[in-house]
Amino acid sequence: MKKIEINSLPDLKKGSNRKDNSNYIYQDVNPSDFLLAESSGKKYYFRTYGCQANIRDEELLAGMLDACYMSKTENIDEADLIIILTCCVRENAENKVFGEIGNLKALKQKNKNLIIAVGGCMVEQPHIVEKISTTYNQVDIVFGTHNINEFLALLEQKYRSNNRVIDVKSMSGDVIEVNVSSHRQDKHKAFVNIMYGCNKFCTYCIVPYVRGKERSRKKEDIIKEVNELINLGYKEITLLGQNVNSYGKDLYKDYNFANLLEDVAKTNIERLRFTTSHPWDFSKEMVDVIAKYDNIMKYIHLPVQSGNDYILKKMNRQYTRESYLELVNYIKEKIPNVVFSTDIIIGFPNETYEQFLDTKSLCEIVEYDNVYSFIYSPREGTPAARMVDEVSYEEKSKRFIELQKTNEQIIAKKADLMVGKTYKVLVDSVSKRNEEFLTGYNENNKVINFKGDKSLIGSIVKVKITESHTYSLIGELVND
Ligand code: 5AD
Ligand code: SF4
Repeated sequence: MKKIEINSLPDLKKGSNRKDNSNYIYQDVNPSDFLLAESSGKKYYFRTYGCQANIRDEELLAGMLDACYMSKTENIDEADLIIILTCCVRENAENKVFGEIGNLKALKQKNKNLIIAVGGCMVEQPHIVEKISTTYNQVDIVFGTHNINEFLALLEQKYRSNNRVIDVKSMSGDVIEVNVSSHRQDKHKAFVNIMYGCNKFCTYCIVPYVRGKERSRKKEDIIKEVNELINLGYKEITLLGQNVNSYGKDLYKDYNFANLLEDVAKTNIERLRFTTSHPWDFSKEMVDVIAKYDNIMKYIHLPVQSGNDYILKKMNRQYTRESYLELVNYIKEKIPNVVFSTDIIIGFPNETYEQFLDTKSLCEIVEYDNVYSFIYSPREGTPAARMVDEVSYEEKSKRFIELQKTNEQIIAKKADLMVGKTYKVLVDSVSKRNEEFLTGYNENNKVINFKGDKSLIGSIVKVKITESHTYSLIGELVND
């Protein structure tokens, strides 16, 4: 069995600390001659789970590996380095990762020099690191969400000693600006982090423990990144954070998310989106800015989680059904063409069928264009995981299907109303299903397919809708 070098181990208590100040660290990427000699010409492969924060981490890590003259491969069999970025929001995401790591054993037997690294939220949990170190010998490097910037040093440590390396820091968190050109996944659409972590501590959620406290990037660094992306020809930017509406609270006295949104809109990026918004901090000032700028897309992801006041309180969501609906109505009034999407948890411990029906009726009132619903998954270390739950998984699954049917009917009805209307579509790619068709998203984030030439990829075109399906639409190109 290989030796393990432990640089640091995770600790959920340290991760939930909100007392330490955040440092702003600006770091260049300077791989040593030793690392360059070991790594140049080699290939890396990513398997990334979870949310956009992980996608952005992948892009940064890939940029750092490119700086070592490594190159990205989409073929896992030819990889010299495999990095798995994990998610711990629900148990099934974790099970998938363990399945994946298990499968990699065979590859490792074929290629003894293969390096397997596991990072992301899941390994910020002590019991997961314990399981990987004792049961999954094939994993060479374990690193956390707080030390992405140290990955090259860990890779070098691995090359030098050939031991397994574990370095997961749990902390309230710093803001680290790595000066490297990211290896972005898309040529036209980009994610830009505006803040990290979360202070909300919803009782079911592990994120605040594994990603640390809410901390904002400096506005100058964000605007600089946006301008660089515009110069590179990017058409759409999505500002990212667990709770973008809290932007700036930790950093500025008189500069908030509404101000940032306005400043980014003024860069004249063609399309601007943001995610995720907590209903708690959604200000009227934000609504005004969204309404004022044509380049801010009228699509708001506003997780409700539940439509029942008792459950919302148990979840520590800090709003009521009524105040949520008031907010939605206010936004609809000020921005008539707005659409909403949401996240919902079904089967929070001891949720009754009647309480579930409140969630269903709320969905019928709001009429979301997209609903991401999840069956509650207990997360070790969270308050909800300590509640004894009397409701069976089977009952929760039935409710899940019931809610899905309701929402699909609403989404289909709203899609039908789009037929005959014309929308602006940012063309993403050729459709995977039919090569004659192009595919892209309209301003409200609906997938629209239409016949057109490949040269249109990356541009914004007008498409008249001719046919609706629940989650996508078909249309014809309109030439003005
Ligand atoms: N179980 C199920 N869903 C969860 N989410 C967060 N924690 C859990 C959990 N323990 C969902 C919430 C959140 C989304 C990203 O994941 O709906 O908004
Ligand atoms: Fe989790 Fe709640 Fe924070 Fe969202 S707001 S990341 S659900 S704790």
